[in-house]
Amino acid sequence: MSLLEVNDLRVSFARRNTWFRSRAADFVAVDGVSLAVAPDEIVGLVGESGSGKTTVARAIVGLVQPVSGTVLLDGVPLGPVGRRTTAQQRAAQMVFQDPRSSLSPRMTVAAIINEAWRTHPESAPPGDRTAALHRLLDDVGLDASVARHRAGELSGGQCQRVSIARALAVRPRLLVCDEAVSALDVSVQAQILRLLVDLRERHHLAMLFISHDLGVVHQIADRIAVMRRGVVVEEGRTTDVLGAPRHEYTRSLLDAALELSTTDAQDRSR
Ligand SMILES: Nc1ncnc2c1ncn2[C@@H]1O[C@H](COP(=O)(O)OP(=O)(O)O)[C@@H](O)[C@H]1O
Ligand SMILES: [Mg+2]
Repeated sequence: MSLLEVNDLRVSFARRNTWFRSRAADFVAVDGVSLAVAPDEIVGLVGESGSGKTTVARAIVGLVQPVSGTVLLDGVPLGPVGRRTTAQQRAAQMVFQDPRSSLSPRMTVAAIINEAWRTHPESAPPGDRTAALHRLLDDVGLDASVARHRAGELSGGQCQRVSIARALAVRPRLLVCDEAVSALDVSVQAQILRLLVDLRERHHLAMLFISHDLGVVHQIADRIAVMRRGVVVEEGRTTDVLGAPRHEYTRSLLDAALELSTTDAQDRSR
């Protein structure tokens, strides 16, 4: 059975009224998306900017209310936004693109993790919290001394490790990573991707890994779903989708990625 199942998800946003039209039709950002993530599986969700990836992620973790469709975790439908059980809220944790804006810069790393435990007390360690905090930091490749630092003092890569630690602190089953490495330098990207793969094995985590960058998704995902204008146009094993894309849109994404990497290589050789 799938750990996460999304069925025929639809999300729309109200358009602002204009002087000539007092009731504009809603804008449909996600138009009937279905996808599934098995336990221990990493599924990549790709597509150009504006295709609706973030909106899918927000609907899964309960940050936006879909118009229709269902999100099931372990076969159990998740309630509407604001009505989810705490266990359901804990089970799917999100890691955002820009760790500098998703972490309060003035909070210490210890306070950030303690806050996660305060929000979900049932996930807090029963014994010595300091020891548990240090174990958690070690888990994401950070030294125990980082606990005393404020988020604003850390590098982008360190911040993203703290975001991942904060997600892990409540012992989720699924990580929804939304452009989680997109703001990082290529070498730091590679380190964070390796960390996520390690964590999948050590904690039996499943992941929905969202990125506009096919090269990044290629490195990490078992399966890929390609989104365009609110719809999944192609889905399959990573090697199949990227090796022999069936949809013309996937091919155009691949061509664009290839062009970019050739330009990069030319830039480097200059
Ligand atoms: N809160 C919102 N209000 C109005 N429109 C939104 C909102 N969030 C997203 N959108 C629109 O929905 C579309 C999909 O956005 P998004 O899910 O962020 O795409 P992606 O993550 O693939 O770049 C875009 O056209 C975006 O402008
Ligand atoms: Mg996005």
